[in-house]
Amino acid sequence: MPNRLDLPAGFRWGVSTAAYQIEGAVEEDGRGPSVWDVFAARPGVIRDGHTGAVACDHYHRYPEDIALMKGLGLDGYRFSIAWPRVQPTGAGPVNPAGLAFYDRLVDALLAAGITPLPTLFHWDLPQGLEAPSTSGSAAGGGWLNRDTAYRFAEYAAIVADRLDDRISTWITLNEPFVHMVYGYALGIHAPGRALMLDALPAAHHQLLGHGLAAAVLRERGLEVMIANNLTPVWPASSSDADLAAADAYDALHNRLFTDPLLLGRYPDLSAYGVGPDLGGCVHDGDLKLISATPLDGLGVNYYNPTRIAAPTDPGLPFAEAPIDGVPRTAFDWPVVPDGLRELLVGLRDRYGAALPPITITENGCSTTAAVDDQPRIDYLAGHLDALAEAVAQGVDVRGYYTWSLIDNLEWSEGFNQKFGLVCVDFETQRRTPRASYGWYRELIAAHRGRFAK
Ligand code: FCB
Repeated sequence: MPNRLDLPAGFRWGVSTAAYQIEGAVEEDGRGPSVWDVFAARPGVIRDGHTGAVACDHYHRYPEDIALMKGLGLDGYRFSIAWPRVQPTGAGPVNPAGLAFYDRLVDALLAAGITPLPTLFHWDLPQGLEAPSTSGSAAGGGWLNRDTAYRFAEYAAIVADRLDDRISTWITLNEPFVHMVYGYALGIHAPGRALMLDALPAAHHQLLGHGLAAAVLRERGLEVMIANNLTPVWPASSSDADLAAADAYDALHNRLFTDPLLLGRYPDLSAYGVGPDLGGCVHDGDLKLISATPLDGLGVNYYNPTRIAAPTDPGLPFAEAPIDGVPRTAFDWPVVPDGLRELLVGLRDRYGAALPPITITENGCSTTAAVDDQPRIDYLAGHLDALAEAVAQGVDVRGYYTWSLIDNLEWSEGFNQKFGLVCVDFETQRRTPRASYGWYRELIAAHRGRFAK
């Protein structure tokens, strides 16, 4: 059995973060409000009333965080750029001080020998695009509004023009599935809309935004990726009803966000009573636009498989079923390392030659451990071995970015779910590397050592 040390030469090691989860400084240097600032201010939506107002204070402490990355010996760092820092209302004037922050960050990364891998949108939409003031130039409604896709491409051009001399590979969106479901269908993430299936335009408009931004990046000679949250879907039994439910869930979670990019079409969503135009939001030519710029890489965020049974109530064509008999993370997510191998082999089988090289852009777990986080080491080791197995089975995987470098604001869970290789004391902002930090550093060194002359 191959293991993590058998990953190929040149395999890239990294960590991932996202702007709203770590930066803080939400009112500094001209940053405009994002949907997350507004959502977090609503009582009861985030555990313990936590917000991203200060978070890890990374906006000021980035040199220390880059030193931690350098200590790991990383090849790359995946972070996200906060659109409201760059364009405070999401449309119109650029905020030079916001762009200057990313300039400093990128220069410091490069000076540390770390390749920056930016994500242009990790859920912190400028509030001006959600609910514009009367003076705003945008129409509102966030990703429910087609116009947001065009604004996104404009913003992508602004950022690329500033950083394309130093960054060659870009990620457009983070997890459009999770953003649509939590933000627009269930309302447990910003912008807090609970529209159920009427949230589908938020999927299409994000993908349209991807396509438009991808063209902007490609015109500048840049490489384009997207980071999708993908899950192997396990039918709860082999009954026809459970199989049909699992197929419907797979279409919504996985294929809805990957088929249009790789195959230029939407999957069959008839189980949801929705036709190929997703209720009318898909215009002629949109799918062509979405797939016109081939992906240079597919980012895969993997945490766990999903077990699906026939629906128990008539609202949706599936019901989620528990996965028993496996360890669970502090977040109560099932730990199934082989699910990563299954997912990757499944992608290769489904998309064949249309599948670009894969990078794992997120994978990790929350633990309760202060410093001695053996469960995280076990989680990472298991998943990396499963990844090596997928590579041995012929899947082209180029890198692995663990979530996350430091504990951070875990969205509606606040600071209560701790995903960091480095522990953060949110009172003092003191960073303390956990056991997993040392483990990851040694793994990276040992893997590289195998190929050193
Ligand atoms: C993913 C998100 C990331 C982080 C991890 C735990 O869905 O992309 O921001 O919250 O989950």
